Amino acid sequence: MLILSNCTYSVLRHCKRKLTPLQRLSKLETLQQYSVSSKISKRVLGIETSCDDTGAAVVDECGNILGNALHSQTSISVALGGVLPSHAKTIHRAHIERVVQDALDQANIKVKELDAVAVTVKPGLSLCLDVGLSHAKKLVQEHRIDFPFLVFLVSGGHCLLAVARDIDKFLLLGTSLDSSPGEAFDKVARRMKLKNLPECYDMSGGAMMEHMAKQGDIEAIPAPDVSFAQRSCNFSFSGIKSHYIRNIEQEEAKQGIVASHVISNASDMCASFQYAVIKHLAKPLQRAFLYCELKGLLPESDRALVVSGGVACNQFIRQGLQKVCEKFDCRMVCPPPHLCTDNGIMIAWNGMEKLLAGRGFAEDPQSVDFSPKGPFGEDLTADVAKSTIKVRKINLL
Ligand code: KG4
Repeated sequence: MLILSNCTYSVLRHCKRKLTPLQRLSKLETLQQYSVSSKISKRVLGIETSCDDTGAAVVDECGNILGNALHSQTSISVALGGVLPSHAKTIHRAHIERVVQDALDQANIKVKELDAVAVTVKPGLSLCLDVGLSHAKKLVQEHRIDFPFLVFLVSGGHCLLAVARDIDKFLLLGTSLDSSPGEAFDKVARRMKLKNLPECYDMSGGAMMEHMAKQGDIEAIPAPDVSFAQRSCNFSFSGIKSHYIRNIEQEEAKQGIVASHVISNASDMCASFQYAVIKHLAKPLQRAFLYCELKGLLPESDRALVVSGGVACNQFIRQGLQKVCEKFDCRMVCPPPHLCTDNGIMIAWNGMEKLLAGRGFAEDPQSVDFSPKGPFGEDLTADVAKSTIKVRKINLL
């Protein structure tokens, strides 16, 4: 819920009665929202940018201040001889994200756990009010996604691009011809013996690689060429996987690494590997957007890409996919990391969607069988390749 406020205090006095749990995030998150909100008191984030101070605070319904952060421009305004709206706006923009995050961190609360966001809309300088209001809108933006939308599954078992047309109707645009990205992350991490590093021991292979990559150079060990003859939306990770495993073996030999020790340039290896993976994921995604444009498979406006699967936990990968989405004027939606990997919630929610739509019931439950190699919707992979869509290189960083 977004509350437009001319004075944060007066709005808060009404909050007790008026607020309902926020329903602005994905449906899965909304479910969690209810369980949290029912047990604890209401909490509201306030944002103030009407003049030359960027302020944010979290309060509860008893009047407790749970978090409070402020960035003051007073010294600059004094030096300038007054508040210069365009200047003040630039400074608000530079600080608003951090100020809001500081208030949330102090309150030990996440945006999705808030009951409402209040923001000043009058009186004030319009250029400055706009910064706070835009930020508040961004925070409470509904993550509602209507069919059709594009799906990118990057997991330990799969890599596939599809158009979701309905709860049970998919158009498969591309898939992996061999390994999955998660498997490649796991095998490279295992070959590097990263679990022997104390900071990595309880992480998944992908999480170890992401952690180590933060200190590494993405250009240190260049990616192999894994482009296909066909201009398809398919993927292949075995070439990338064996290229980095070979490089690790060579480094181990060069550095005289024995037993459980880890090569000294493990961070560079992880960063370069991640970069190779995102470059390989980006091209088919670009092609998928172009194919959908060609065939009119996605709406003209408010397009969405849903990225899920364990590899979608990876912030570097997400950032690269986000860059592609920006080029195609598409919003990218990812479940929170703990819901990207296998979990029961996604199955339960799929069941709920089907129950609500009255579809997918088994007449005879005993006749239901699993089908591990069953087709995933209508297979358009060959048609995508036939369309020979060329893609441009884009900056993924
Ligand atoms: O979706 P998921 O549970 O796999 C299937 O069951 O298909 O995801 C597990 C995979 C593992 O391969 C794991 O290494 C990878 O997701 N993963 C990551 C990250 N966290 C988990 N890969 C890259 N970066 C991460 N942060």
